[in-house]
Amino acid sequence: MIIAIDGPAASGKGTIARRLAAHYGLPHLDTGLLYRAVGAKALENNVDFDDTAALAGIAAALDLAALDAEALKAGPVGEAASKVAAVPEVRAKLLKLQQDFAHQPGGAVLDGRDIGTVIAPDAEVKLFVTATPEARAERRFNELLKRGEEVTPAAVLEDIRRRDARDSGRSSAPLVQAPDAQVLDNTGLDVEGSWQAALALAERARAAAGL
Ligand code: CDP
Ligand code: CDP
Repeated sequence: MIIAIDGPAASGKGTIARRLAAHYGLPHLDTGLLYRAVGAKALENNVDFDDTAALAGIAAALDLAALDAEALKAGPVGEAASKVAAVPEVRAKLLKLQQDFAHQPGGAVLDGRDIGTVIAPDAEVKLFVTATPEARAERRFNELLKRGEEVTPAAVLEDIRRRDARDSGRSSAPLVQAPDAQVLDNTGLDVEGSWQAALALAERARAAAGL
């Protein structure tokens, strides 16, 4: 069983994906970390975001096992990630790794932007998790505050809007809802409410797939 969770920044898709993986005993891949790792390396090495060959080289050399999820969640890395994610050569280098992870024996849970559309269109369970930009900005603001980052609510909302526009507007694997995805708008729901709603949708898709 493949579970594909897509949605915009800070929609809560990672939290849902982690919980579904634990619930069904499946391995989980946060694919945003791959783009964040490429973005972080580009920032670190002062690589120009127009230098597609250098960015593709960084993506090709990525070591899944060496990703430091905690460090990669820093605010500026999200912005860099969305820039490198718009480069088709970078996406191409990261494609097989994600497809292999999705199609491993027993199945897997992946969350990102293009899981249900590009990485695993054959996924039995597809959720598109979303919430208003304001709700998502508030969640991300609280997270960054907890990390000790100096941010303002207005700047975080602007970052979310900019990233939404870039992720949805790019020509290569844009953030779009798969036609066969179930939508979960969790604006106004807390983590527990969002989880209960997601589990119900996943169970429905499983039943429909005869699982
Ligand atoms: O956690 P958050 O939603 O803020 O971001 P993320 O999921 O870690 O993804 C960071 C960036 O990577 C996004 O803004 C996307 O541009 C890109 N991404 C993508 O293009 N495709 C994916 N499957 C996952 C992430
Ligand atoms: O993976 P993505 O960026 O979509 O979001 P996340 O990392 O799962 O969640 C972002 C933040 O929103 C976390 O601090 C969650 O605890 C919080 N949150 C949530 O996930 N779901 C809600 N319904 C409300 C808040």
